[in-house]
Amino acid sequence: MSDKLNVNVIDHPLIQHKLTMMRQKDTGTKDFRELLEEIAMLMTYEITRDFPLKDIEIETPVSKCTAKVLAGKKVGVVPILRAGLGMLNGVVNMIPAARVGHVGMYRDPKTLKPVEYYCKLPGDVEERTLIVVDPMLATGGSASAALTLLKEKGATSLTLMCLVAAPEGIKVINEDHPDVPVYVAAVDEKLNEKGYIVPGLGDAGDRIFGTL
Ligand code: PRP
Ligand code: URA
Repeated sequence: MSDKLNVNVIDHPLIQHKLTMMRQKDTGTKDFRELLEEIAMLMTYEITRDFPLKDIEIETPVSKCTAKVLAGKKVGVVPILRAGLGMLNGVVNMIPAARVGHVGMYRDPKTLKPVEYYCKLPGDVEERTLIVVDPMLATGGSASAALTLLKEKGATSLTLMCLVAAPEGIKVINEDHPDVPVYVAAVDEKLNEKGYIVPGLGDAGDRIFGTL
């Protein structure tokens, strides 16, 4: 496998500006949460850019015409609990018909290994394109374990959407799940000795839920 990371960085100016606000340590819970939801909305706009369309016949108040609607697989959104919940509404605001699954995964603070504690998915998971959301891709352990679990449950079409990633985490996803496209707003420098992304934004779950 090459050293080149396979990642789509969505570096839209609005996203970068909002992310900078989120990174600042004095940004409080309310603003942090709102900014994350807004970024998730903007990222959804980008990652759905290639969704297939089909023609249908409609009638406007003025005339009949042929117009486009979404075709292809139905969508599911899967936040990785708990911090992934912070991105859920942003995605669902853009794709209101999406079904929502939940995967509970926390990172053991000593080993940094993911621990699964919850999984509830739509029944027709194999028929959907699943957008897996988690703001932080650090070692990649949590996201990789969530993707493996979803595949075991029958998922065949998966996309991973994170806010900030460390190169180490992207590499793990590329190696473990080469079939899964990875979208991020930023690739940061590295992980520190505690497995935190540098410069990152700290503990995303704690900042979203005010549990610092
Ligand atoms: C955070 C984050 C990811 C994980 C990333 O969750 O939301 O799920 O860490 O780290 P990794 O790539 O090294 O696995 P955390 O374990 O803090 O749980 P929380 O979402 O409940 O706060
Ligand atoms: N989880 C977070 O919330 N932040 C990090 O920097 C790494 C893992």
